[in-house]
Amino acid sequence: MTSAEIRKAFIDFFVTKHGHTFVPSSPVVPLNDPTLLFTNAGMNQFKPIFLGQEKRSYTRAVNTQKCIRAGGKHNDLDDVGRSRRHHTFFEMLGNWSFGDYFKQGAIEMSWELLTRVWGLDPERIHVSCFEGDPANGVPRDEESADIWHTVCGIPRERIHYFGKDNFWEMGDTGPCGPCTEIYYDRTPDKSGGQHVNGDDPRVMEIWNNVFIQYNRNPDRSLTVLPAKHVDTGMGFERICQVLQNKQSNYDIDLFDPYWVCLQQLSGHTYGGRFPRTNAPDPVAEAADADLRRDIAFRVITDHVRCLTFALTDGAVPGNEGRGYVLRRILRRAVRFGRQQLGLSDPFLYQLVDVVVETMGEAFPELKANPSTVKQIIREEEISFGRTLDRGIALFIEAADRARGIRRLMPRMPGGCMTRSVFRST
Ligand code: SER
Repeated sequence: MTSAEIRKAFIDFFVTKHGHTFVPSSPVVPLNDPTLLFTNAGMNQFKPIFLGQEKRSYTRAVNTQKCIRAGGKHNDLDDVGRSRRHHTFFEMLGNWSFGDYFKQGAIEMSWELLTRVWGLDPERIHVSCFEGDPANGVPRDEESADIWHTVCGIPRERIHYFGKDNFWEMGDTGPCGPCTEIYYDRTPDKSGGQHVNGDDPRVMEIWNNVFIQYNRNPDRSLTVLPAKHVDTGMGFERICQVLQNKQSNYDIDLFDPYWVCLQQLSGHTYGGRFPRTNAPDPVAEAADADLRRDIAFRVITDHVRCLTFALTDGAVPGNEGRGYVLRRILRRAVRFGRQQLGLSDPFLYQLVDVVVETMGEAFPELKANPSTVKQIIREEEISFGRTLDRGIALFIEAADRARGIRRLMPRMPGGCMTRSVFRST
């Protein structure tokens, strides 16, 4: 299946088979919620329903939500480029129950879609459940575990328990609750159990089912909500990775056009290489220009998607808050382009067309005014280019001065200047 077909299959499953209403994604810029910098999950737009402040004509919803996780409680910015599965911008497929079905309904539907509709191997599925928080009166989630075991047939050894990672919260305050996460084990011998909720890319979380029952108050206490709800989130790029049998989100069909465009712009080819570990390894990267270039390809691609969606939805780069986060993202992309791909002229804005071409059908708002988005990005690139050139000139001047001073300085036996000499200059 192509990524477009996977997106459609998810939505059709919940609409036609299980009576959900399709609700379009809300903007990535949550102008009416001061607790958030960016929309970080599909449930954000439904917050007033969970809090009992609003009612809709439907009790079941499905959608694909545009999300940004950069700045704020959920922040993946520094992982982007090195990681196989992190993005600042991504899509989250989700289904919701507003006081309708609860744990059993949600778990059964997840199982049906993954194993019967999409044909994933049931023996490779692991799940995690909340181990409980007695201090706040939240019990261990045996109920979900029992449903996974008795209704879906998952053996107990593939049901894992965790603490805060299995209690989902959108921010410092707001609706929240215990969650059960679904992992897919792609180790050759299905032995990946010990990597659940770890860093091994072969054992990846693909879907989170949250059972929203509480509101987190500013004093960190929990209030029980008037009704119980379901909020699920499936990383779209991750499920595409699994269903298309790829080793990274960036290997799915959705990203191919970016590699082509960047190749045309830079003359370099994308090779799909990743570092051996998630943690930055400056020594290995310094020795491997191909790897550094591949990281740059991914950083630029991720960041231009994020910027195009955020600017389309009304945000602008600036010096504070969400504007500052966007400016940092833009500058990070430009820096990677300059340093690793030799792109010294403005280039990022030219990739906006690729975002519109690849995503415009699912998110038609992208087609409304791409030229304004391009113009804003181009101007930022020009002004950052000037800042960089000034900075580099100042650095060279300072380095030359230091070299001149060095020539006049007495030397230590090992060739170093003494600390006191440094201080006196
Ligand atoms: N809100 C949950 C998440 O973002 C499930 O949608 O993971």
